[in-house]
Amino acid sequence: MNKQEHLPRGPMGAVAASRVADRRGRKTVAESILDQDANLVRGSFEPAVYQPITVCGIDIKLEPVAPALGTIVHGLDLQTDIENPEIITFLRQLWLDRRVIMFRDQAHLTRLDQVRFAECFGELGSHHGERDHVPLVPDWPPTPEEHEDILLIISDEKNVQTVASQWHSDATWSTRPPMGSILLCREAPPVGGDTNFCDCHGLWEGLPDELKELARTLKAKHRGHPHHAMDHTLPEAVHPVARTHPETGRTTLFVNPIFVNGLMGERKFGDTESRQILGKLLERLGRPEVTCRFRWAPGSIAMWDNRAVQHCATGDFWPHQRLMERVTILDYEQDRRTPYYSGQDGLTA
Ligand SMILES: [Fe+2]
Repeated sequence: MNKQEHLPRGPMGAVAASRVADRRGRKTVAESILDQDANLVRGSFEPAVYQPITVCGIDIKLEPVAPALGTIVHGLDLQTDIENPEIITFLRQLWLDRRVIMFRDQAHLTRLDQVRFAECFGELGSHHGERDHVPLVPDWPPTPEEHEDILLIISDEKNVQTVASQWHSDATWSTRPPMGSILLCREAPPVGGDTNFCDCHGLWEGLPDELKELARTLKAKHRGHPHHAMDHTLPEAVHPVARTHPETGRTTLFVNPIFVNGLMGERKFGDTESRQILGKLLERLGRPEVTCRFRWAPGSIAMWDNRAVQHCATGDFWPHQRLMERVTILDYEQDRRTPYYSGQDGLTA
């Protein structure tokens, strides 16, 4: 048997194979990679570029990750500073403007603190959004005993299948998918495992006019994967391809390559035509101009708007450990939970 076959499948194994020329089995490759990374230390380099701002007497530094999206918020303690409603109002507006906001140095937060932070913005969701969509596969997903709504995302030498290294927004196969997700890093590889975010407003704006016109008339069928099954049925939902963001009024492109299972228009599409249109719609997904990339460290947090971005983990860090804890948030406004298209592409007045 070819020894290379013992490496993990997918991008994790491909990156490992590219890093190690001498592949005498999985264990040897893992040891070689750990050896290559053994002398890495965590640190930082100056200068950073940021916008200084004072909110409620707290000096905050806003570090843009990319022009289109993503801001790292420095200077807040999410255990204590969230008591101030003005801070929450500030963070919510920043989140809407920048699609994803990140924080550093929050390793002291307990799981209860993470839940409290999430509840400042919406109702705590179950692992995959609303509670009627909890998957029923035994022992999936892994959760800590005392906080069943927290999803543990564990990757190490033995567990490589849980890294979501394809573009998606969370649980779009749900009728009312989660508004946002908050991911807290407990353990990070010294290098690799970054999460990438793609601006779905930017994807929409970049479509040619004729494709926008077609997209406004389309709906997409989203289907869960086998581990999302409920009562032995895969969950499905139909959503508009052009989605109105219920808070900003702007239009986003609301299709992703792993859950969309077909398009429906004013006329019926065959599978091939449906795939071709989806391919055109998603042509710019992941392009550098509409994405940002976040490197994790223990205590880092990312909070993203599932209505405005897709995300994708980077499957390049095997055999290192990566331990993440995720919660989802649902809009407090029930009538904003179901995706819709208003027919207008402008900003909310
Ligand atoms: Fe995800």
